[in-house]
Amino acid sequence: MIDKHSPIPIYHQLEEQIRQKIENGEYNPGDALPSEREYAEQLNISRMTVRQAISNLVNERYLIRIKGKGTFIAEQKLEQNLNGLTSFTEDMIARGMTPSNKLLNFEIIPAKPSIAQQLNIKEHAPVYEIKRIRLAQGIPMALERTYVSANLIKGLTDDIVESSLYKYIEENLGLKIGRASQIFEATHANEEEIKYLEIPEQSPVLFMRRVTKLDNGTVFELVKSSYRADRYKFMLDLER
Ligand code: GLP
Repeated sequence: MIDKHSPIPIYHQLEEQIRQKIENGEYNPGDALPSEREYAEQLNISRMTVRQAISNLVNERYLIRIKGKGTFIAEQKLEQNLNGLTSFTEDMIARGMTPSNKLLNFEIIPAKPSIAQQLNIKEHAPVYEIKRIRLAQGIPMALERTYVSANLIKGLTDDIVESSLYKYIEENLGLKIGRASQIFEATHANEEEIKYLEIPEQSPVLFMRRVTKLDNGTVFELVKSSYRADRYKFMLDLER
């Protein structure tokens, strides 16, 4: 498997082979990687060389090293393209994954000043407060807290928010979603996120705030989402 006469360094060849095994599913997330000694003996190369290949893959986040336990195949993150305004449901379906939601809270409350201001509605005007765990293939991906103006987005029910909010807005209410501004921050998961996202304490999360408008410019939702940093990465196309 290793070509010692190749101009490609041996550690690089091994790196490539391990990466391929991860990508074609021969090695699965969470599996332990064979030991340095096993690779060295099997391929008849030095342990130093194996170590170099493994270190590179750890740096590239294909592998993770856990002190005292060994080296494991990392979870493959979902890459979300940020070049468009999409819903969680659409993102998952586009990937061939099944989205689901666990509804933690759904009620109508009077808008407090900060929410009213951002939604551009009167203080105490009714807003839906929706708290959902968003799952893909049954795995929690994000915890989402949404405020929607109830006078604008009428008739929301548990069933609707347990499926797709955007679908209801567009298909049932016939409104057009226009644009959003979104901010990302890296942070540590709080207690609620640790519990609902089923992640260890001190885990990093990608915290996102979105303000979304209809195509006529009216703000209709405020969203705070915390995405699991071990499951998600974001992609943007940049043009100069
Ligand atoms: C994403 C966005 C949210 C939006 C949601 C709608 O998660 N970050 O701002 O509210 O999609 O998703 P759905 O239509 O699946 O309910």
